[in-house]
This record gives sequence, structure tokens and C-alpha cells, in this order.
Amino acid sequence: MCGIVGYVGSATPGQRPLEVLVEGLRRLEYRGYDSAGVAVVTPEGLVSAKKAGKLSNLLEELDARHLPAGTAGIGHTRWATHGGPTDANAHPHLADGGRLALIHNGIIENFHSLKRELAETGVTFHSETDTEVVAHLLARAYDDAENLTEAMRATVTRLEGAFTLLAIHADQPGEVVGARRNSPLVIGLGVGENFLGSDVSAFIAQTREAMEMGQDQIVTITASEVHVIDADGHAVEPKRYTVDWDAAVAVKGGFSTFMDKEIHDQPQAVADTLLGRAGEDGRLELDEMRISEAVLRSVDKIIVIACGTAAYAGHVAKYAIEHWCRIPVEVELAHEFRYRDPVLTEKTLVVAISQSGETMDTIMAVRHAREQGAKVLAIVNTHGSTIPRESDAVLYTHAGPEVAVASTKAFLAQITACYLLGLYLAQLRGNKFPDEIREDLAQLHAMPEKIQRVVDNEEQVRAVARSMKDERTVLFLGRHVGFPVALEGALKLKELAYIHAEGFAAGELKHGPIALIEEGQPVFVIVPSPRGRDALHAKVISNIQEVRARGARTLVIAEDGDDAVVPFADEIFRIPQTPTLLAPLVSVVPLQIFASALATAKGLDVDQPRNLAKSVTVE
Ligand code: G6P
Repeated sequence: MCGIVGYVGSATPGQRPLEVLVEGLRRLEYRGYDSAGVAVVTPEGLVSAKKAGKLSNLLEELDARHLPAGTAGIGHTRWATHGGPTDANAHPHLADGGRLALIHNGIIENFHSLKRELAETGVTFHSETDTEVVAHLLARAYDDAENLTEAMRATVTRLEGAFTLLAIHADQPGEVVGARRNSPLVIGLGVGENFLGSDVSAFIAQTREAMEMGQDQIVTITASEVHVIDADGHAVEPKRYTVDWDAAVAVKGGFSTFMDKEIHDQPQAVADTLLGRAGEDGRLELDEMRISEAVLRSVDKIIVIACGTAAYAGHVAKYAIEHWCRIPVEVELAHEFRYRDPVLTEKTLVVAISQSGETMDTIMAVRHAREQGAKVLAIVNTHGSTIPRESDAVLYTHAGPEVAVASTKAFLAQITACYLLGLYLAQLRGNKFPDEIREDLAQLHAMPEKIQRVVDNEEQVRAVARSMKDERTVLFLGRHVGFPVALEGALKLKELAYIHAEGFAAGELKHGPIALIEEGQPVFVIVPSPRGRDALHAKVISNIQEVRARGARTLVIAEDGDDAVVPFADEIFRIPQTPTLLAPLVSVVPLQIFASALATAKGLDVDQPRNLAKSVTVE
């Protein structure tokens, strides 16, 4: 977790380092918001400020106490792992008599033994963090090394676990040194200045030119140069790329929350994810493919691994891929996958879905799958992140930066990418004729406009949500692809409104959950298309009647023209007519709006719900 930013600019001290750090932290705050801090190298030495709580607390501190002009600096926004969210545990951590400052994202697994070792040599600690241990180790290595880069290289050999580290030293006013293992770090290239960040949003307001950092590499940036070395000290040439996001995309654009903006971004996110997928011959293509067609044709099982909302996109993928490709698909939470000794062969295709590409549980599952000989295909939103780098094939979703902690547009883009993958495999394996694939693609291309129509109807959903702000529990029912939609609707409500919510497969109702129904209990029901499988629609109508007969207040999501639901619905939210398998792209939207509106009505922080972080980069 945690957001990291580093900056080096002109040798003439100024306010630019602090401005860049603060702007970077603003954009990184979604990675954690338990505390924030900065350190800057100035002619008077190293100065720092840090505060528990949101970034605004640090900004108040910086307003009250102007830091002197500087040349380089580092900034951090924290999601606490070791030690509570206090001022003392906030980063940066200082060592070498306050001349060295260090920030960290990740967990140092062997920090207890290192701390004991340092304590025995007389080091006093001011925090409970694993990070402070590294600051002191680095200071000790700096005494023996020629420079901060070599000191960092020596230090990381002592560390176990996951880390991105950035350090500055008062003696080296023109550089920032960074290192990474199992945590993200990217380089931003400016003119007469350079940047480091947990992801490109850290410096997107300054530059779109970036470089990827590999595993176990160490980077030193100065105002004019970037040097990257591997663990043995050999120079490496990082891969350069241009970020295709715009700084303006990452701001709220007139909406009161990022989540509301991102809900409105969804038609575009789906359209962009579909963009340019068919080659000149009309055949579908992925972004990066390092698996031979022969191997893909021989796949006899697919396992989707993901966490949170991304896992529900995987559930939708199961229905589509099994139906289109006749390949068995399992869906598993990434953190469970690795520990159950899954049966993997060279004919297993593992599909890893992740918005950030940095979810540690998913990364570890990807590694496990590859070690066991399976091929891994990644569906990821963030270019240059760890999961696509470590996978055999990549299909990028083009949702753009998602800032709100609760995922919305990335979810729709993930589902879209899953459909593309299903059609790609069907094309390759001959499960569908080219004209059938063209027809399915045309249906997909019609989805952005349909999603827009649901978003345009948001006021009806918002009004109902406002009237329900005192509810204590809400249930969600769905069948077939409506089941993962029910699960996602419940997750959104838990995450944002802190209300107990549960999603059920509607068929499971009579096997237990129906006991929860009492007078006035709100129940959302996701109704499948009456034009799809008739049995499916009829069964869900029966389920609505069953809960209503027991006093439930029914909130029904149903297609335009589906009159069968009218007698049993207290409230109907309409969605456009859509092929059964594609329906999640529209049916989940009212549930996202509902959760956001209800949380807003309760006066809660929609973009940064309590206890959560956008990217869970620890196991
Ligand atoms: C966190 C976020 C969720 C997200 C999940 C997986 O729990 O709060 O919104 O779905 O991580 O993240 P990923 O980046 O792998 O999609």
C-alpha cells in the first residue's frame, strides 16, 4: 500500500520540490490516507514534516511552518501496516542525525531481527515501523559506502519482503535514490528535472514520459540523469514509454466525488477498452501475446484469479467463456488459490484480473501459477505494473486512472475485456464462425450507449437511496450473470455506506437466506432478460414473489418492456434491452449509483471509505 513520490530539480533552491511532492501526494492519496509526510534537501540541511490523518493535515502543517527552499525531496502517503496511524509512525523516517530521510511502501518481513541487531549497537527508535529500521540500516551502510546508491544496494541485500524505498541525504542535495522489490516504482522524465512515483499519477501533472523499473533494481535520479542498476551493480536500460493518460482525466471534472465522475466515465471506459481490437483481417488481437496459438488451442481449463471487485468480473467471465468456448472456467480469490494446492498443468490458462496490477495476493498467485507450469494472461488497467510484466499475455483495459477506492469503471472495463478474451479464444479455437464474432462485437459496441442511458437515469436511483439512509441491512438477489452483479452490489454498499449487505444466488434463497426476510426488508433483485432463456426469467419472477409475500420491499432492476415484474416491484430501475450475457454492463450501474448516493446521504467519504485502500500491496 502507500503512495510514494520523489523529485529532483534545479540546483538553485526553490519551492518547486515541495509543490511537486504535494501535487503528487494529492494524486496518490487513494493508495492510503492514514498519514502523509515530506522531506526536502535544503542548503540548511534536510527538513521534513509529517502528520497523521489525511493529506489536508499535512498541508495545514506546511502552511503553518514554511519549509525553506530546496533542490530535491520525497513524499509519502501511508496505509498503516506496522505501527498505528500516528505522527511518529508517519513517513519519512530520519536517520544519520536527521541528515538522511527514507520512505517505504511494503512490508519488511525480517525487521524484528534487524531491529534487534541495530538496537544492540545503540540505535534508538522513534516509531514502531519496519521502515525506520531500514532508515538506520541505510545510514550505517552510507558510512561505509561511496555514495547513497551503493549504500542502498548494500541495504536491500539485508531485506526480506516487499518494498519500494526512496531516500535523500543532506550531503547529496541533487539526487534521490530508490529501490524496489515486489512493490511498484516508476520513473518520470522531465526537462531539467526528474521524478519517481508509485505509479504515473505521482507525476502525471508534470510529465507523461516514463520508464519502468524491474524487480530488484536501484535507481538514482538527478536533475538531468537517470541511472538504473541491478542487484549486482550492473547498469540496466529501463524501458521507456509515453503515458496515454491526461492529467485532466485524474481530476474530478465537476463531480462532487471521484466515484461519481468514474461512474459517468463508464461508457467511455467500455468504448476505449473495445477500441482497436480487430486487426485488418477482422480478427481479434490482444495487446501482448507470449503464448503460442498451439498452446492456447490446447487449453483444457481456465482459472480466473483476482480479488474484490475484479473477482466478480471473473465470475461474469465464467458464464461467457464457458458458453462461447466450451472450456471449463473456475474463479478463485487470489489469496485462496495459492494455499489450496490447485491442480495446474501446462494446459491450464490462468487469467489474472486486476485494476492496479499491484495487488499482492494476485501477484503471488500469478507467480505460483507460472511456477507450476501454467500460462498466465493478465487483464489489467495500469500499464507497466507488476502483473502484466510477469504474465505471458496481456489484455489492457483502457478505463484510465481510477481514483475512488471502490472500483466502478475498472469493473466494467474488466468485464468488457473478459468478453473480448472469450471471443478471442472462440475465434482461435473455432468455436464460433467469424460472422458470429462480428455480431457479438457489434453487440458489445452498442453497450456504451446503453450504459449512458442507465447513468442518465441516476436521479431516480439517488432519490430512492436518500430515502433509505437509515436502513441497517440490504439484500441482493441474482441468477446466472445476475449473481455476480448481486455480489458486487452488496460489496459496493458495504464498502461505501458501512451497511450490512449480502448478495445471494436467487436459487439459494429457499435454502436459508429467506429466513432473513421480515417486514420492510429491502431486497434488490436483478432480473434477467425475458428474451433470453425463459426458465431463467420465470424463476427470478418467482423469487421476487417469494420475498415480497414475506414482507420484503422489492427494488427491481429489469429490462425496458419487461412488464411481468410490475405487480411485484415496489421500485423498478429500468435498463435497456441487452443480450443475456452482456447484461452485467448495465445492471450493475444502478447499484453503484445507489451505494454512492446512500453513502453521500449518510455524510460519508465516498472516495476514501474507512479502513480501505485502493491498491492492497501487502498480503
Ligand atoms: C481493493 C480495492 C477494490 C479492488 C481490489 C482489487 O480491495 O478496494 O476496489 O477491487 O482491491 O484490486 P485490483 O487493483 O487488483 O483490481
